Amino acid sequence: MSKKKVAIFISGGGSNMLQLLDSMQGTQAASPVLVVSNDPNAAGLARAAQRGVATGAVDHKPFGQDRAAFEAKISDLLAPYQPDIICLAGFMRILSADFVAVWAGKILNIHPSLLPKYKGLHTHARAIKAGDAEAGCSVHQVTADLDDGPILGQAKLSIQPADTPESLSQRVLRLEHKLYPAVLTRFVRDDLRPVFITG
Ligand code: GRF
Repeated sequence: MSKKKVAIFISGGGSNMLQLLDSMQGTQAASPVLVVSNDPNAAGLARAAQRGVATGAVDHKPFGQDRAAFEAKISDLLAPYQPDIICLAGFMRILSADFVAVWAGKILNIHPSLLPKYKGLHTHARAIKAGDAEAGCSVHQVTADLDDGPILGQAKLSIQPADTPESLSQRVLRLEHKLYPAVLTRFVRDDLRPVFITG
């Protein structure tokens, strides 16, 4: 099986991106070829560059609602690297159905909830408000529908009485850092068996 080339999309600090880079260090099955951000000032870009990974950015703000024009620039960045897989990791832009169709089944995303619950934003506050016993994160294949698509892994933990959205976010983020590499390790080998982690 040829070595899979992985591009990672970020919007901020890129803590999940770093875990994915580290997980590919020790394997022959995949290598990171590019880290892309919609924010040229994303701190994760410098962290990726420090690890010798090529980076690129397209500021989404000048494009306004012209999603296609923004994505065309993203595609121009990707073209020279010919990635096999795109991992969205803390990437806060919604990709159009056209972009997703070009990459059908090859885009992964990590979302900080136990999907299908709490698609969208403010997931931890919503879980606490609902009085849920558990929270967690999910890795799924990206489809045209937001935070939808086949689930490839989930990690869960118990919500504590004293939890705030911030404290829960921090505890779930640590699970994300375990879950995403575990899912990518299987995905690059075409192994779609879901990963389940209890934290
Ligand atoms: C975090 O809120 C995480 O739950 C979600 O994206 C945000 C930033 O992640 N996946 P990262 O540190 O940039 O990977």
